[in-house]
Amino acid sequence: MRIDIITVLPELLKSPFEASILKRAIEKGIVEVHTHNLRDYTDLSYNQIDDYQFGGGAGMVMMIEPIDKCITALKQSRDYDEIIYMTPDGETLNQKIANSMSLLNNVIILCGHYKGVDQRVRDAFITREISIGDYVLSGGELGAAVLCDAIIRLIPGVLSNETSALTDTFQDNLLAPPVYTRPAEYKGMKVPEILLSGNFPKIEKWREDQAQERTERLRPDLLK
Ligand code: ADE
Repeated sequence: MRIDIITVLPELLKSPFEASILKRAIEKGIVEVHTHNLRDYTDLSYNQIDDYQFGGGAGMVMMIEPIDKCITALKQSRDYDEIIYMTPDGETLNQKIANSMSLLNNVIILCGHYKGVDQRVRDAFITREISIGDYVLSGGELGAAVLCDAIIRLIPGVLSNETSALTDTFQDNLLAPPVYTRPAEYKGMKVPEILLSGNFPKIEKWREDQAQERTERLRPDLLK
């Protein structure tokens, strides 16, 4: 998979890809992540990429021309499956969206700033709009990093058996069961006996029951 991220703050998109699972996925060649500074695609002085809104109103709007130039340049080298715009008024990201996006080959992610992008960008170029939740961030970069993390860890070969995504919370619309590790007793707090029993069918049943009970208690909306 190749992900191209268009941003005015490329420095915000460095460290998420320089550690742990995402770093390893890149090193293994399973995914390539490229960031593109939108300011490299403007001919205006001071590398301007935004301007006042027509009709008045507070806040700047990102102009169509630099975005068009950047997307057009990328499209010259390959076809893209999706051109995604990170915005609080997009579809809310969930595990189902992450699963389906992990199957794509080439994706562009456009990060918004200020009041967002000129509507004509959304009409002409964007194929999907994604929000990471009902709150407003200063820009789309942190949302893009969240989206990339959620997608990349699902690509076959990224996670090892021990960290398999198959037992994640949300993978079957259920929260994950509780987990424990050594010691079996800490300051009087004991690990559930069943987990020490070695009876694996019973342990599996216990985990399923716990997942069901937790979901009913904490996220009944997932069971609807
Ligand atoms: N940009 C600003 N807020 C956002 C959000 N909640 N999700 C995605 N992109 C955003």
